[in-house]
Amino acid sequence: MILGSGLGAAGRMAEDRGGVVVPYDRVPHLPCPAVCGHAGRLILGNGELDGTLLLQGRVHLYEGHSLERTTFAVRVLQQLGVRNLLVTNAAGGINDVFCVGDLMLLNGHWTFLNAYPPPGGNCRVPSTKLWSNRLRHVAQSVDSSLSVHEGVYAMMQGPNYETPAEVQMLKTLGVDAVGMSTVPESLAASAAGMDVLGVSCITNLASGLTDQPLHHSEVSRVAAEVETEFVRWLFAVLSRLQL
Ligand code: HPA
Repeated sequence: MILGSGLGAAGRMAEDRGGVVVPYDRVPHLPCPAVCGHAGRLILGNGELDGTLLLQGRVHLYEGHSLERTTFAVRVLQQLGVRNLLVTNAAGGINDVFCVGDLMLLNGHWTFLNAYPPPGGNCRVPSTKLWSNRLRHVAQSVDSSLSVHEGVYAMMQGPNYETPAEVQMLKTLGVDAVGMSTVPESLAASAAGMDVLGVSCITNLASGLTDQPLHHSEVSRVAAEVETEFVRWLFAVLSRLQL
């Protein structure tokens, strides 16, 4: 499980349940995140989380990392035999029915990267297979007090938030939520044979859709507000995967 901006609570809870913590800098070549809200810790789950690895924090292209470095953690997971990858992120909601604090399961994506798909062998991912229907159905079968939607995610390179004009363009293209991560790791995981579930936490309405100024601290604040229920839901999804 890769935990995005401000969504690291699952890592702390896994630690509280006896998980073993390995800081990223103890794993050779694994890049350490510099962005606030990304701790940079690998947690090996224990008890009901046995068999689960949680990556608390990621590095982004907008921090100046290459595609190789942003997807390195996935290659570590591949070597460890991981079969299912849950990738979480904080995202700006574009779809009119989305509210702050809702979740969105990715059923498609857009990216504007000029290197695509990511490197790491000749294996191209059949794009129709990237977002696992099986994992999405499992996730939909778990009740939550949070609204769980499905939709299309657009990855922008950042680090700036989008302009209102860009958000209007994305809306016209049928995008439901926008963020700055997730797609490279998911492509690498899928190319490595993993099933991938992408989950966005809608931490704000995208730029220009509200008068509220958009700031990373607001993203972190909303993520903190939903974290308890989000983690409960994530762990319930996990337990169904392990049945
Ligand atoms: N845009 C891009 N990335 C984000 C946003 C957003 O509105 N919210 C959280 N991450």
